[in-house]
Amino acid sequence: MIRTPLDWIEDELRELDAIGLLRRLATRTGPQSATITIDGQELINFGSNDYLGLAAECLNDTVIEAIRTHGWGSGASALVTGRGSLHAELEAALAEFEAAEAALLFPSGFAANVGAITSLTGKGDVIFSDAKNHASIIDGCRLSGARVQVYPHGDIDYLRMMLPQASAFRRRLIVTDGLFSMDGDLAPLCDLAALAEQFDAMLMVDEAHATGVFGDHGRGTVEHWGVEDGVHVRVGTLSKAAGSIGGFVVGSRSLIEWIANRARPYVFSTAPPEAIAAAGLAALQRIEDEPHRRTELLSRADQLRRRLIAVGCDTGESASQIIPIIIGEPQATMRFATALRESGFFVPGIRPPTVPAGESLLRISLSYAHTDDMIAALVEAIARLLAVQ
Ligand SMILES: Cc1ncc(COP(=O)(O)O)c(C=O)c1O
Repeated sequence: MIRTPLDWIEDELRELDAIGLLRRLATRTGPQSATITIDGQELINFGSNDYLGLAAECLNDTVIEAIRTHGWGSGASALVTGRGSLHAELEAALAEFEAAEAALLFPSGFAANVGAITSLTGKGDVIFSDAKNHASIIDGCRLSGARVQVYPHGDIDYLRMMLPQASAFRRRLIVTDGLFSMDGDLAPLCDLAALAEQFDAMLMVDEAHATGVFGDHGRGTVEHWGVEDGVHVRVGTLSKAAGSIGGFVVGSRSLIEWIANRARPYVFSTAPPEAIAAAGLAALQRIEDEPHRRTELLSRADQLRRRLIAVGCDTGESASQIIPIIIGEPQATMRFATALRESGFFVPGIRPPTVPAGESLLRISLSYAHTDDMIAALVEAIARLLAVQ
């Protein structure tokens, strides 16, 4: 047999499969909403982040109209010829929505996190990053060249102990998810804001899963905790509750000007199509006009969590529309996900490296689009499966 330099990949894939960590790409057909068709099977969908139910229908006509007027491709990076009037309008609307001075639109939330962190820190600086932060924050930290101190999840005492030693560094950045994407719990933002002030650190919060859901106006966890003045950099995405695509950073005018000059994923990447900005504008309007979507979502999430706990599930510290059922080992988690799928429900199993070893879980993502009957049927199916284990 002829060997090639890529043979090691086959060995690695076999190893991943043996330990239950191999991912296989499935194909969705048709739009996703409260239901989804994956590999030809129609399922009730508890796997998407379309928390307000805006993705499948609400934005379609807006996007089609924008393509007719503005065309599709942007042609270049925003700094060259890519930034159109709709991008500018969306940035102004995002700043207003977030009650901030200015906003900058990125092609994705991932790019926004990497761009913001690498613009704000470099060699000679130190970053304090929560152990459960999203991969895009982790990669931004790694790329920045700064010293990275990962603190145990939500551990304010640990941070309080570490920060005094950080005064020798040029700049300090504390970065955290506002709402953690797999565990559904909230960061202790009041304490973090107080520590940032005490130790002269910048504080950055990623609101990816909280924008549109938390806070009286749907601005996210920073609004929920009332710490707008203590958080210097806020990142969000239009890909989850806003049902579209595109990340953003909001903050002071000078912060945004600096990031637009320095963030490599912004400077060296083609701007997203303007139709995406049209979708973002329409979604923001829905979020503003229809607050019942987020209030009902959170109250149904509370009820669902209580019912899951009552049938014996461990939902960890979840306090949001993201509700994990913590299983532990990846093989058992995937068996549970498969059994749910056979019962007609799509609930993704989450394994390392997305979560730490020993913390594999089923991730229920609740949407305003789910009916009471769908939610009741899910609880019943989970209870039935737990009873036969
Ligand atoms: C916490 C968090 N931040 C950022 C992102 C990236 O956002 P996007 O999907 O828009 O790139 C995600 C997406 O999974 C996320 O969960």
